[in-house]
Amino acid sequence: MATNLEMPKVDKTFPSSTKAEMPKARGDKITGDRYYSKDFAEREWEHMWKRIWHVGGRVAQLQDAGDFVVHNFKHESVMMVKQEDGSIRAFFNVCMHRGNRLVAVEEGGVAGHFTCTYHGWKWGIDGGLDWVQDAEDFPQGNPCGKLHLKELPCDTWGGFIFWSFDQNVKPLMEYLDPVPELLGNRDLESYTRVVWRTLRVNTNWKFASDNFNEAYHIPSVHPQFQPMIDDHYSTTVFEMYPSGHNRMVEKLQPSSRWPDAHVVKPLWAEVLKEWDINPADFEGRAQDGRKALQEARRRLGPGRGLTYFDKLTDDELTDQFHHTCFPNLTLTGTPEGLHVFRTEPDAEDPNWSTFDYWYLVPKVEGAKEVATLYGMRPYQEAEHENGSFDDYQAEIAQGDFLTQDLSLAETQQRGLRSMAFEDAYLAGQETRVRRFHEVINDYLEGRR
Ligand code: FES
Ligand SMILES: [Fe+2]
Repeated sequence: MATNLEMPKVDKTFPSSTKAEMPKARGDKITGDRYYSKDFAEREWEHMWKRIWHVGGRVAQLQDAGDFVVHNFKHESVMMVKQEDGSIRAFFNVCMHRGNRLVAVEEGGVAGHFTCTYHGWKWGIDGGLDWVQDAEDFPQGNPCGKLHLKELPCDTWGGFIFWSFDQNVKPLMEYLDPVPELLGNRDLESYTRVVWRTLRVNTNWKFASDNFNEAYHIPSVHPQFQPMIDDHYSTTVFEMYPSGHNRMVEKLQPSSRWPDAHVVKPLWAEVLKEWDINPADFEGRAQDGRKALQEARRRLGPGRGLTYFDKLTDDELTDQFHHTCFPNLTLTGTPEGLHVFRTEPDAEDPNWSTFDYWYLVPKVEGAKEVATLYGMRPYQEAEHENGSFDDYQAEIAQGDFLTQDLSLAETQQRGLRSMAFEDAYLAGQETRVRRFHEVINDYLEGRR
């Protein structure tokens, strides 16, 4: 399907990849059944989820040998375990005696062994079987030293732990390419996850990838961003990469969509004032405030403890870098930190999914707390907050961008179920939405 977008003429000063192309799509239909059909969900499981790399946690969750994180995905459960040599290995969370799930908590630590609660077999943290009751009573031979927990490929990047069901999965860095390069100015390994939130939502998992693949919904869904995020396609950079990942870069400035983009609104004035810029100087040319902000942050940032600003380019000191990593991970880099979104399908029902929001931040020297969507938080690895979207909505009385997006997720899921819906009718700036579905089709139809 053709797109009417040209590569915008922007003075890019941020990491780029030679593999970047303007988003384009073949024109595969985005039909409603993709969102509610059990058969389609089963094909996604068989041909896609079993083959990709999954992000399972943060390296920082594992301090000592024997520490583990469990990631339940659909009906499977995987544990990532810190080894004596500091490496991390992933195993199916299943006892090889008679199939009991080995660990029932989502994170923790063991001293040397995972002991199965059924018959007490002791599995080493390296997955080897070290002790069984009545070892001499096995006619086929003592299982110790013979049986092993089923192991999965596991690797890390940027402080994230990844694992895959596929023994022949391509190397992680090749799979993620070129996203690590694009985020290369940020020392993500040292970032702290100060928000770790999971919400169960009454929508298909693909909602989030669709949604993060376009900014077209911003004016109607997030009107609060208008004074400071430029959602207009004429100023936004859109890219796709051969690996299936996409990127969109939005400028921090009043949205070019509106005729009053030159007016300094109160929110924009606050942003400027925070960096000792007089908003009155930019009246009538509000967007020029972006360059002034870059200059001020460059000059004042390190003195305010933002020493990591030295590694960021000018545009990275202001703009939003949205990377939609195929299929279900979005990494949005801002000057303040990294927003991570991950959606996963429900084990049984394609009408349900879990939505994870993690917020990772670099340390600001001298600061004890950092601003988050949920107020100020200490620089500490967050506890897991796990609940339903309904409860979350009730708790966040004033609403936030997540409640705005997820409310839409639920009403769209209702509409997609209708026989009236046969395909999306997309704007050029939404091309990555169709492209995302086409990469899914490539997996499902054996082209990837
Ligand atoms: S099932 Fe684990 S020891 Fe029997
Ligand atoms: Fe949104």
